Amino acid sequence: ADKTSLDIAVIGGDGIGPEVVAEGLKVLEAAAGDVKMSTTEYDLGAARWHRTGETLPASVVEELKGHDGILLGAIGDPTVPSGVLERGVLLPLRFAMDHYVNLRPAKLYPGVASPLDVARVAPNGIDFVVVREGTEGPYVGNGGALRVDTPHEIATEVSVNTRYGVERVVRDAFARAQVRPRKHLTLVHKHNVLVHAGHLWRRTVEAVGAEFPDVEVAYQHVDAATIFMATDPGRFDVIVTDNLFGDIITDIAAAIAGGIGLAASGNINPSGENPSMFEPVHGSAPDIAGQGKADPTAAILSVSMLLAHLGRDEAAARIDAAVAADLAERGSGARSTSQVGDAITARL
Ligand code: NAI
Ligand code: MG
Repeated sequence: ADKTSLDIAVIGGDGIGPEVVAEGLKVLEAAAGDVKMSTTEYDLGAARWHRTGETLPASVVEELKGHDGILLGAIGDPTVPSGVLERGVLLPLRFAMDHYVNLRPAKLYPGVASPLDVARVAPNGIDFVVVREGTEGPYVGNGGALRVDTPHEIATEVSVNTRYGVERVVRDAFARAQVRPRKHLTLVHKHNVLVHAGHLWRRTVEAVGAEFPDVEVAYQHVDAATIFMATDPGRFDVIVTDNLFGDIITDIAAAIAGGIGLAASGNINPSGENPSMFEPVHGSAPDIAGQGKADPTAAILSVSMLLAHLGRDEAAARIDAAVAADLAERGSGARSTSQVGDAITARL
């Protein structure tokens, strides 16, 4: 990418995905300034599967690789058997693009309600980021089933952890911690029980930590981490963890930081070899799809993360400020998806 243009691939996907992505694109356009924006839409998800039986054709992966970044809504639909689209589109995209950093910030903005008594449990606020490993762990599909649907059924789902894979995500997490004011990193795992993978992670954090002497390191077992998310979330700054634990604790993180309608994420290839992909943490929400009820804020904050990743820090900061201002004045009046998008766009 040169400095004057941005070429973004857009995958609206299913359910509320296209609805929230449309608002993200409004904001992207408004924030771009004199940067020449071009977007290309890709049709992936339930409709394509019903029409052609395809999930993620190899040719689409190759085309996606040619863009500067990818904006995704959500994939998944009740008319498609569970797992077909999730395993057929989402995970292969992350693997094909080697999105080994799954970045999920949890920040409670002023004026946003948390289910926690924040004044008591987090008087200094909630502002942490989870660096979830994105290409290994139990999500790689290393397993199988025998004698399915008999009393003797066997199923395995093996967690794959490589030193290479753990080291690169741990190094990324340390680097992110180093540029944050608190310079604090927590490894979340379960090395008292998952001794093989857990100690690989523990030793890797110790070794890489030597390169970042100014970053303070802590460790929590994942179960204890869920307690502290509810009772003392202010203790966290940067968390690094494996694919499965990261999936679970980031839902808790989203809940305490104002809900799933606000949680943004990035699937990042830090080497820049492939484009990174930004998406709301939430899914396709079939229960509210097509009704204009979805909150597009998570998709809009995903656009901000995309711009920050592509070095457009100023544009990203303007979006964050517009979102913060909108959240501060939101109150309880119900607004439609496009009304929220328009209000945030107007502040730019
Ligand atoms: P979900 O996140 O779609 O919905 C959970 C609940 O949150 C629902 O009540 C929904 O109405 C609400 N919700 C979600 N996003 C919202 C928004 N922006 N504004 C207001 N309310 C919102 O999770 P669920 O129901 O488990 O999954 C539905 C489908 O989405 C499934 O097919 C699932 O596999 C898929 N999914 C896809 C993801 C992705 O594309 N990255 C992530 C999570 C789920
Ligand atoms: Mg999840």
